[in-house]
Amino acid sequence: MATVEIGSGEEEALDPQDLLALALEAGHAAGSVLLEKLGAPLQVGFKDAHNNLVTDADTSSEALIAGMIRARYPDHRILAEEGTTGAETSSYRWIIDPIDGTTNFAHAVPAFAVSIAVERRGILQAGVVYNPASGELFAAAHGHGATLNGRPIRVTSIEKPESALIGCGAITFIHKHRRIKAARIFWRITQGCRTTGAAALDLCYVACGRFELFCGPSLSAWDIAAGALIVQEAGGQVTDFDGNPHKLDRRDILASNAALHPWALAVLRGKVKGGPSMSTIVRSVVKHWILREPGDKPKGAQAPPE
Ligand code: IPD
Ligand code: CA
Ligand code: CA
Repeated sequence: MATVEIGSGEEEALDPQDLLALALEAGHAAGSVLLEKLGAPLQVGFKDAHNNLVTDADTSSEALIAGMIRARYPDHRILAEEGTTGAETSSYRWIIDPIDGTTNFAHAVPAFAVSIAVERRGILQAGVVYNPASGELFAAAHGHGATLNGRPIRVTSIEKPESALIGCGAITFIHKHRRIKAARIFWRITQGCRTTGAAALDLCYVACGRFELFCGPSLSAWDIAAGALIVQEAGGQVTDFDGNPHKLDRRDILASNAALHPWALAVLRGKVKGGPSMSTIVRSVVKHWILREPGDKPKGAQAPPE
């Protein structure tokens, strides 16, 4: 069988900012298509399960983005969620999620995004995550920082888990006991866990300081490629659940503001004990706030000043 060598020969290195310019153009164009289709009747199909949707908007968005990439860089490779491919031998590979958050999109929940990244030999060069419904466009080029609607963004410097808000792709946690424990600790020790329903947006929320962490199990390269670069360029850290540097073929991703990364890894390794149990919290609420005589101060409460 003939083999194709990826990235062989003397391929000219491209400026990440030129690659970003094309990603931005394609992201805007695809975003307009999604806005037109948002809330309109959609053709909805199902991939392998009732909760794995694909719509005609996914395929239109992907065809548009891939067409723009092929027109500019006909020799570049393409990896896209709905199966579009490009040429075979270039060291450059575009990674496309035409709609991240398809389920949200299909229900007209305005939390979805076009995600476009380009990598060369495993190093992300440029990435765009665009939510046309909110008008928020996150972007980064390797070595040039990250932006939200053109303004530079940074991760937070929060070091205390008690002050953190966490993005948590919690649904798949049910498969692994260690991860159930981790999810419980994230919930109990931090200010809470959220998911936007679009991993690309969850990552960008870390990059711009809305979340301190994002813990995403079982994701694919197209869900996370652009968002991972945006977090890194915003000063954050991205690894797998064992602390290994982020690689596009790893399914689990931990992204953080860097300060909380060691703590989150310790949680995922089962090394952090999880605060009071739920039954202790309930018992304490009942004892201090429910089983008291009217007019009594709750136990431990300070008397008001005379
Ligand atoms: C999904 C979203 C979601 C994540 C799922 C992904 P899709 O992508 O990123 O947040 O939890 O695992 O599959 O299917 O909407 O492109
Ligand atoms: Ca996705
Ligand atoms: Ca998708």
